[in-house]
Amino acid sequence: MTATEADTNLSVGQRATLLEVVDLSTTFRTERGMVHAVDGVTFTLDRGRTLGIVGESGSGKTVLSRSIMGLLSGKNVIRTGSVKYEGTEIIGYSAKQMSNVWGAEMSMVFQDPMTSLNPVMKIGKQITESLRRHLGVDKDEADKTAIALLKSVGIPAPEQRLGEYPHQLSGGMRQRVTISIALACGPKILFADEPTTALDVTVQAQILDLLDEQQRERHMAMILVTHDLGVVRTRADEIIVMYGGKVVEQAPTSTLFASMKMPYTEALLRSIPRLDMPSHTRLDAIPGRPPNLISPPAGCNFAARCRYVQPRCLEERPPLVAAADPGHFYRCFFPVGTPEGDAALQANISAGTAVAAPATRSSTTSEES
Ligand SMILES: Nc1ncnc2c1ncn2[C@@H]1O[C@H](COP(=O)(O)OP(=O)(O)OP(=O)(O)O)[C@@H](O)[C@H]1O
Ligand SMILES: [Mg+2]
Repeated sequence: MTATEADTNLSVGQRATLLEVVDLSTTFRTERGMVHAVDGVTFTLDRGRTLGIVGESGSGKTVLSRSIMGLLSGKNVIRTGSVKYEGTEIIGYSAKQMSNVWGAEMSMVFQDPMTSLNPVMKIGKQITESLRRHLGVDKDEADKTAIALLKSVGIPAPEQRLGEYPHQLSGGMRQRVTISIALACGPKILFADEPTTALDVTVQAQILDLLDEQQRERHMAMILVTHDLGVVRTRADEIIVMYGGKVVEQAPTSTLFASMKMPYTEALLRSIPRLDMPSHTRLDAIPGRPPNLISPPAGCNFAARCRYVQPRCLEERPPLVAAADPGHFYRCFFPVGTPEGDAALQANISAGTAVAAPATRSSTTSEES
């Protein structure tokens, strides 16, 4: 019996795996051509665990999250693969079927609290509406729950806040409100899509700590989407690194940081500020642009920007392969920290081409201008 079959024989209550995503792809039909925004993503998420999804802007993080949640619809969206929630396939679910899943089973906190809150509706109503719809509670009960929720997310004088509008709150307080709405119906998975990028640096850590705390208390699973490897380093159990719609590296967090294999992951790591760096240290932004998703390059998607690049990388697409450690996968012919990788990097350094591939040097983007 395979692990998956054994799992199917467990009752839903016992099942450790909450979400199973297999070979999920999401393509948009556009006037310019087919945009392959998410390409063949596979992972599982167990109850109470945190998965970090990391990558630069445009790598497919939001499309992946929204595709799993069934929030992308219309005839221009093509989804293939499988998304199982508690063992049930939900990829073919209609919006009506998904509406029983949203809020109560899976919910989402977005990047900008201002766009997810209704500016002309009082905060109290925005929280209680969802409670009343999903949990069928009366107004008094919903108000009481809303006050308790606001309190639990650290909003002072919650009774008073119920009657206020979003613009009366600071950015950090607004994001606390959106988190309380996302938590209102006790979801088993919370998708947090760059939940702090619109906030001040000092508030960012508070919001991430709040998410951690709520997650632990509720034994909720979380998918934390960010462009910052530093954010998921201490908060995620497992990390998926995306590039050009594909998973390029995937591993338990400690394995990833102990033995990362993908030059792109290494480049991302070099691009985050560290506390021990003097302020104004120039960070290594990754030169060049992400790949074209309509007509991707013939070889590795990252080849044009890679310090390790070799002729093979331009011709052949590297498959996702397993590393020595369990659960660690990567997509590279010249992995970081291996004899082949070291030789490739040394050769490029000697040739003076290791900063960026020569082909992209003249077309680098704003990072250098
Ligand atoms: N509705 C759509 N139609 C066509 N292309 C789309 C659509 N939505 C997203 N895309 C494209 O899919 C790719 C992935 O976008 P996505 O928003 O998932 O990136 P991201 O990793 O979340 O980036 P960011 O960090 O900026 O939020 C981008 O190239 C984007 O332009
Ligand atoms: Mg996004």
